Amino acid sequence: MANLPMVFVTDWKLIKQHFIKEGGNFVGRPEFPINMEIRKGAYGIIESFGDRWIQQRRFTLHILRDFGLGKNLMEEKVLTEVTSMIERLKLMKNDVDMQSIFDSSVGSIINSLLFGYRFDETNMAEFLELKGRMNKHFKLAAEPIGGLVGMYPWLGRLPYFSGYKNVIMDNWAGLLKFFRRQAEEKLSTIDYDSDEYSDYVEAFLKERKKHEHEPGYGGFEMEQLDSVCFDLWVAGMETTSNTLYWSLLYVLLNPKVLEKVYEELDSKIGTDRIITTSDRPQLNYINATINESQRLANLLPMNLSRTTTVDVEIGGYRIPKDTVITPQISSADSPGNPELRPSSPGCRIPECRLRPKSGFQRVGSAHRRTVQKDDGAPDRGEILD
Ligand code: HEM
Repeated sequence: MANLPMVFVTDWKLIKQHFIKEGGNFVGRPEFPINMEIRKGAYGIIESFGDRWIQQRRFTLHILRDFGLGKNLMEEKVLTEVTSMIERLKLMKNDVDMQSIFDSSVGSIINSLLFGYRFDETNMAEFLELKGRMNKHFKLAAEPIGGLVGMYPWLGRLPYFSGYKNVIMDNWAGLLKFFRRQAEEKLSTIDYDSDEYSDYVEAFLKERKKHEHEPGYGGFEMEQLDSVCFDLWVAGMETTSNTLYWSLLYVLLNPKVLEKVYEELDSKIGTDRIITTSDRPQLNYINATINESQRLANLLPMNLSRTTTVDVEIGGYRIPKDTVITPQISSADSPGNPELRPSSPGCRIPECRLRPKSGFQRVGSAHRRTVQKDDGAPDRGEILD
């Protein structure tokens, strides 16, 4: 990566052995100077490292899990969107653009989890503005010139590159400013006498208050909040919306699978009510279809980079401290991997996923958990990935 040597680990056994069992050795991150400049430091989750990463990841998982407990705020927000999406679809006759529908529905859920409100016709312009900036962000970052300016921000002082760097910075800063404005509005009405919270920002601000006498608010600085909002928006929005879109396309292209999905829905749910999370253990075929669509779509083909925090040895190779390293899960979870698909390597239909222990493999560090989703078994592990 530019002038940084980078190691990819693509063997499932090695990923498991090192990134799960010795996860603490991989909690560093390479720093992208332009990102640090915009974020004002290694804030957030996606680009933080070490103790901050562990603390903030744990806090975020805790809050998001909490939304799934008790009155299940998470499910409530999702079902509100599903109901609204179905109503909108009923009114449409031709030219249904499912990508936009998924985008705005998922955007609403994430915004509601973060700030407590969804998007409808009264504030759709705000969603479109956010989405436009996100799209621009990804586009700019993926261009070769974006990569160059990202790695060497001093290029931004040269005539040709300066305009480009300004566009990247202004676009991203616009998003951070939007998130800060939301947080400040919340601050003006927050009730610190109550421990309750109904969205992520409120939970963060209440936690910040508890740390107000510690240096840097104990890791709960406003810059951290700006960045984590950005991370949850970018990491949650496109991934989920595109997963839905790809799943729809794969199922449409496989009429036999679609037929079985309908059969399962008819027999297990019927037509007079909406599906809820509690139906999940009964929907083996649908779970398998979703898993297989996710594997095929391979939405994030390159995992996030880490750096080694000590010298390590992987597969007989010595890798020094501070080396950029990536566990490449997509190459491990390929149809040809006999370890993950013992009796049917290469099988590409959901039935392959119906056998116990044939679900997703997810990888984390010592501070994460690996989740094996078997048929319909509740995924009690990660919420974030
Ligand atoms: C189908 C939907 C999703 C897919 C396929 C997906 C996939 C992934 C993958 C592959 C990673 C990289 C893991 C790594 O290399 O360490 C990741 C990280 C992450 N995802 Fe997701 N994700 C999805 C939904 C979400 C949602 C809904 C959120 C939050 C609202 C989210 C938040 C994050 C965050 C914060 C990280 C960084 C974790 C870390 O660095 O520790 N993701 N996701």
